[in-house]
Amino acid sequence: MSGGASAVLLLARSATTGAALKDMERLRDHAAGLPGVGPVVFAFAEEGTPSLRDALGALIDAGHAAVLIAPIVVPAEPAFVTGLRKALQRWRGADERPWPEIRIAPFPDRDLLDGLGRAADTEPVVLSTEAGAAEGSVVPAQKRRVLVCLGAPCIRAGAETVWGHLRNEQKRLGLRTAGEGTMSARTSCLGPCNLAPVVQVWPEGTLYGGIDEAGIDRIVEHHLQKGEIVEDLAYQPSGAKQTLRK
Ligand code: FES
Repeated sequence: MSGGASAVLLLARSATTGAALKDMERLRDHAAGLPGVGPVVFAFAEEGTPSLRDALGALIDAGHAAVLIAPIVVPAEPAFVTGLRKALQRWRGADERPWPEIRIAPFPDRDLLDGLGRAADTEPVVLSTEAGAAEGSVVPAQKRRVLVCLGAPCIRAGAETVWGHLRNEQKRLGLRTAGEGTMSARTSCLGPCNLAPVVQVWPEGTLYGGIDEAGIDRIVEHHLQKGEIVEDLAYQPSGAKQTLRK
């Protein structure tokens, strides 16, 4: 088992471009050079690889005694940390490996602005006085759309990692063009907050509640790829109040 300083996991929200990945690599390299800091890795809570679950799993496999998770999210969002704790608890409960001690660092503060004084050295933005030509768009053929609720109650229940898992699976499996095609979108409150985290799949409008990564996997396999509703995760409109089934 590795001893010494905590391993540090820099946690950003998402990265969909190579430039964002490069930013995280630079931050990781900078953090790794700070005094008293152990090995440093980065991960993404939402879309992007490595996902938080995968990066944390690698640290667990490496036998680190302690891991400090440092959210790189500004402004501070208490719901982000609440959702993070929920996701950690969910993964811990389903994992038989011994886990390191986990800490969550405070959100970045004014130290983040230290580089501002060097901003005068950067190239100015080139702005033309001409109006830009309109760019065309391909109209997608996708039939299915998955809405992942990111209202506050769903975020507190861990919806951001669920969203990230869906997006990573969508990319990995090529779901945009596979079968009938799937698009996904984040949304505000879908209504049944007490069933958080809530996901809705169209065109059926099926509402799924209590969704975690395993739930997403089942929805992908059955609903998105075969058109079969996952009944035991679905909550049908009944006119009566419903609670999460165990
Ligand atoms: S906040 Fe997600 S259903 Fe209301």
